[in-house]
Order: sequence, then C-alpha cells, then structure tokens
Amino acid sequence: MLNIAIDGPSGAGKSTIAKEIAKRLNIIYLDTGAMYRAIGLKAVRLGIDTEDVQGVTGILDSTQIEIKYEDGVQIIYLDGEDVSTAIREHHISKAASNVSKIPAVRLKLVAMQREIAAKNNVVLDGRDITSYVLKDANNKFYLTATPEERAKRRYKELVEKGQNVDYETILADINDRDYNDTHRDFAPLTRTEDSVFIDSTELTIEQAIEKILSYIKM
Ligand code: DC
Repeated sequence: MLNIAIDGPSGAGKSTIAKEIAKRLNIIYLDTGAMYRAIGLKAVRLGIDTEDVQGVTGILDSTQIEIKYEDGVQIIYLDGEDVSTAIREHHISKAASNVSKIPAVRLKLVAMQREIAAKNNVVLDGRDITSYVLKDANNKFYLTATPEERAKRRYKELVEKGQNVDYETILADINDRDYNDTHRDFAPLTRTEDSVFIDSTELTIEQAIEKILSYIKM
C-alpha cells in the first residue's frame, strides 16, 4: 500500500496540500485531525470538560466515529450524524487539542487510522503519523511554516469568510496549540529524522505540492 504521512503544526497548509496530493494520485485523503475534533465536539456538547481525562475517557465506548468518502471527499460521522461542518468551528480546535492529550482517545483513533492505512492507498495528515501511527510509512514529510505566517494565512482565510477577527488573538491561539501539541506526554508532535522537512513559509501551495510530489516513492 502507498502510505503518505504528513505531520506538522496547525495552519501549515497540511490539509489543503494533502487533499490535492490525494486527488492527483487518485488515492484517498485521511484527515486525522477531524477525528480528534469529533471527540472534542462530543465532549463539548455533553458539557464535559475537555481536559477531564476520566470524563472524556468515559464517553469513548459509547462514541461511534465513522469515516466515509462521498465523491472523494471525506465525511465524518459522530454517532451517525454528519459533523464535517460542526467540527470546524473555532472553539472546537482547542477542544480537539485537549482531548488529543488523553491516551484512551489516541488509542481508539490510532487503531482506526492504522486499519484504514492497511487497506488503502492513502495520504494522512496529523501530528503523530510519521512518529507513531505509521512509523514505517514509505513516504514521510514534516510540513511547517513560521507561527506568524500561519497566523497571517488563517487571518486572511477568516476575513475572507466575513469574520471579525484579530491577528494577535489568532497568533496567540496558534502558539498555544503548538505548545499543547508538542508538549503532551503521549505521541507529541515531533519532527522525525526520516521525514522530508518542508518549510512552506516562502512557498505557494502549488510549490509545496510539487515539492512533496517530487519526493514520493511509489
Ligand atoms: O489538524 P487539526 O487542527 O484539525 O487537529 C486538531 C487537533 O487534533 C490538534 O490540535 C491536535 C490533534 N491531533 C493529534 O493530536 N493527532 C493527529 N494525528 C491529528 C490531530
């Protein structure tokens, strides 16, 4: 199976780039962050503190996450409901980052991710794909950009959507999530030695895509 693993911090362009690579290679794209977001969303809806390890762990057995593809687009279902849009709300980003620190959450989702990767040619993006989920993937990348550039991109995206946002707040959120994601105990975001390092600060999306494609071994 062709498994392309892309890790990196929030806002580095991973999902846009991974989606396009999957399209060009005619394989599926698995957005693993969406899975953590779905668990975060469920906890928020139930009024459970997303940092409460026992509380969040307690809902896992009765939580069903499903990934389906419709016209090549990933749809994520939480207990049978399509939550693909709901998980994108701003406050769910921090909830996802919080629940992702909980070992039981990771074990449940990693098992699903490994199963999908074993059965499909797939591009996956996340934080721990190259270091933990698929250590032996045939193609591994670490995609990043400076926090200021990532905040600038996010700011532009939200302003274009008509949202009233503040650049400094976005930058602070990005730094906060970077800290959370790189300092957790279990499978933190890290750059592995065997991953191709790509800094997209000075690259366009197309340049980053071409760079990654140039390294892919089939
Ligand atoms: O990529 P994203 O912003 O949608 O991810 C949301 C959060 O989920 C992120 O802050 C950390 C967590 N995550 C993770 O711990 N491991 C992954 N493979 C993907 C995401």
